[in-house]
Amino acid sequence: MEIENLFRETLKKYAAYEPVEQINEEGWVILNTNENPYPPISDILKDIKIAIDDSQKLHKYPDPLALEVRKAILNQLLRDKNTLTNRNTVFIGNGTDEILDTIFKVFIDPGDEVVIFYPTYGMYKVLANLYNAKIKEIKLNEDFSIPDDIFNASGKLIFINSPNDPNGQSFDNEIIEKICNSFSGIVVVDEAYADFGEKSCLSLLKKVDNLIVCRSFSKSFSLASLRIGYALADARIIKEMNRVKLPFNTNYVAQIAALSCIKHRNKVYEQNKKILSERSRLTDELSRYSGISVLPSDANFIFIKFEDQSKTLKFLWDLKEIKILVKHFSKPNLYNYLRITISTRENNDKFLTAFQDIAKKYL
Ligand SMILES: Cc1ncc(COP(=O)(O)O)c(C=O)c1O
Repeated sequence: MEIENLFRETLKKYAAYEPVEQINEEGWVILNTNENPYPPISDILKDIKIAIDDSQKLHKYPDPLALEVRKAILNQLLRDKNTLTNRNTVFIGNGTDEILDTIFKVFIDPGDEVVIFYPTYGMYKVLANLYNAKIKEIKLNEDFSIPDDIFNASGKLIFINSPNDPNGQSFDNEIIEKICNSFSGIVVVDEAYADFGEKSCLSLLKKVDNLIVCRSFSKSFSLASLRIGYALADARIIKEMNRVKLPFNTNYVAQIAALSCIKHRNKVYEQNKKILSERSRLTDELSRYSGISVLPSDANFIFIKFEDQSKTLKFLWDLKEIKILVKHFSKPNLYNYLRITISTRENNDKFLTAFQDIAKKYL
């Protein structure tokens, strides 16, 4: 049987998401994945273990709407953030990626237009292709700011990643609000890394009704493998997202873990301060070299630019040779850059020492 002939027409030109290179061998310093270098704190691990050991839970389906998690997000996690009104509510997804997929399910018919910046997180384009949307790609300015063309853009969805991957900078609320007001569709702001910075556009939910803010437990709460995230938006949007999602999209253990993260959030934020101080240290140390510049970052990674493009790959390969993995994007306008995830002090020291040695050859 010619099974290939049965596949959807769209898949013929579909380019699947390519996760970053993963190496699970001992001895590597992994600085390419933007994961939190720390496991969940012990109070959260304890709650996860209790959930797994609970003989009355694992054979039953989880709460399809994750109501306890939704309540905890609204009443505890975001209570102090001067944000929501009665118009807004929350959606729980199997990580931000599933939330993005659900947004496409709600808004996109084949041929609908979707606005995506370049460069940014790759998943927006992958999903747009999967759902057969027409993609309007808008290049960010050389300093990764948003160009004015955006105010003439039309379409069903715009994706804004803030802080933006790969450069690490957040966008100001003034520009996000202006985009919400000029755009006739929905503005999706992906704040997967926002807990590592000061900026968030959550407060805009009070002012505009065409905004969806997506947030993740993967990064700042170290739960990447359990797959849970949330989105805040006008209740009419959340209602539709809940109608189209798969019924049991988040599992019981992930829901318990998310509740525990919310309960112990202050301890988690305390742990994350180590990442923030390491980010400043790496930025300061690397800024001493001539021939490279370090971009300011609000995320758990930094983006460094080499004046001489040929040196970028030399650093990448020499680091890999000694088992240190950082991220290079072989894509237009990004050839001169390396993205480095902030890790533990010990790993960062290994990276800095290696960088110094390599710099003696090339810088
Ligand atoms: C910008 C951005 N958004 C979303 C995700 C996916 O997040 P989640 O683990 O919540 O699906 C990532 C993962 O790397 C990311 O970089």
